[in-house]
This record gives sequence, structure tokens and C-alpha cells, in this order.
Amino acid sequence: MSPGRWPVSLRVADGLTPSLVLRPLHRRDQSAWEALRRDNTAYLSRWEPTPPDGTIVRTGFGGYVRSLNRDARAGNIAPFAVEVDGELAGQVHLFGVMRGSLLSGAAGYWLGERFAGQGVATRALAALIDYALGPFGLHRVEVNIRPENVASLAVVAHLKFREEGVRERYLHIEGDWRDHRTFALTVDDLGGLPTIERWHLPG
Ligand SMILES: CC(C)(COP(=O)(O)OP(=O)(O)OC[C@H]1O[C@@H](n2cnc3c(N)ncnc32)[C@H](O)[C@@H]1OP(=O)(O)O)[C@@H](O)C(=O)NCCC(=O)NCCS
Repeated sequence: MSPGRWPVSLRVADGLTPSLVLRPLHRRDQSAWEALRRDNTAYLSRWEPTPPDGTIVRTGFGGYVRSLNRDARAGNIAPFAVEVDGELAGQVHLFGVMRGSLLSGAAGYWLGERFAGQGVATRALAALIDYALGPFGLHRVEVNIRPENVASLAVVAHLKFREEGVRERYLHIEGDWRDHRTFALTVDDLGGLPTIERWHLPG
């Protein structure tokens, strides 16, 4: 696929419920997105990056959507809104894309608390991996997780990611540099199967 192909929407056809769609964030999502972020501030803040110098640049929602689309058209990210039964529930992003001889990227995800605990993140991440290692043309996707984040660790465990090791003081979160555990999947790990099928594999 050409890196600049965007927008992309993925209807997650894994036979599971609730229904799941990954699609670009739109300007018309503003009020739903802002309400979701506001209602989940405490739930999300332990896991979200903070600016090391404390400077928060506010571009507004329109500027945020424009910058996502611009970077997506350039092939540097694949930023999906997660829709659960037609309702905006969170986001799953492929970012930090390196092509050349690396062909690698990182995945990140969050949901509103009321959408959690039903397998949504596992299914959304599986769909993102299939897209990233399929049409998007990467060879490897990694996920970096704070050791304390049991819910996120369960998501990569569901999909049998390989653990690669610990990155010390890797990312600035909640005002300090935090260690992260790195997990990855490559095309070779999938062996031609949809990623979601790894969920119920033994081990
Ligand atoms: C991480 C997150 C996306 C997971 O979403 P989700 O849709 O609930 O994930 P799933 O339902 O696919 O799997 C979550 C697993 O974690 C488990 N879990 C959730 N909270 C837990 C807790 N506090 N303690 C132990 N296990 C927990 C669930 O039971 C489930 O495991 P199981 O299916 O084996 O029972 C969601 O919790 C979230 O948005 N957290 C805040 C943002 C964040 O941490 N993002 C990731 C940064 S690396």
C-alpha cells in the first residue's frame, strides 16, 4: 500500500460483540470526544504521556484532528477512533513509524472506563496489528507498557505478544520518566493468521 493512503476505516469482522469500527476521528466528534476525555481524566492520567518541560501546547480539537490527518497522509501514523456499537469509545493509534530496513511502529490505545473489560482493546489492537502488518506494510509493531498497568499488560498477553525487555526511564508520564516493558509482534509471529485468533491459543 502507498504510505499516504488515508482516510482508512476498518469494520472489525471477528464475529465478536459488541460491534467495533476503527475509523478516523472527525471534526463532528468534538463534543463526544471532549466529554469522554473529561469523564475519564482520573482513569487515564496514570498512563498518558506528559511534556517533560511542562509546556502544554493547546491546538484545540480542530487542530488536533488536522494534525492527525496530515501525519496519517504522510504515512507516519495510523490514528483510529474506536467506535463501539456506533459510539465513540476511545482511540487506537499506530505511531512512530520507521520504514527503510526497520519497517516498525508502535501501538497505543485508550478507552473510556465504561467501555473497558469486554475485550474491546484486545480486538481493536488485533485489528490495528492486522492493518499495520498487512496493507500498511510494516514488519513489526511494539507496545510499551508501564509495569503497573495490569489492564494493558492483559491486552498484550491475550494476543501473545513477545516480551522484549524493559526500557528504563523510557517515557515521561505523570511528571516523571517511567520504565516500560516492551512487547512486539512481527509478520513472522502471525504465521498468516488474523491476530485475534491468537487470543485463545494456549500459552
Ligand atoms: C488498557 C485498556 C485500553 C484495556 O481496555 P479493555 O477493553 O478493558 O481491555 P480488554 O477487555 O481487552 O482486556 C483487559 C483485561 O485487563 C483486565 N483488567 C482490567 N482492569 C484490571 C485491573 N485493575 N486489575 C487486573 N486486571 C484488570 C481485564 O479483566 C481483562 O482481562 P481478562 O479478559 O483476561 O479478564 C483500558 O483499561 C484503558 O483505556 N486504560 C487506560 C489507558 C491505558 O492504560 N492505555 C494503555 C497504555 S499502555
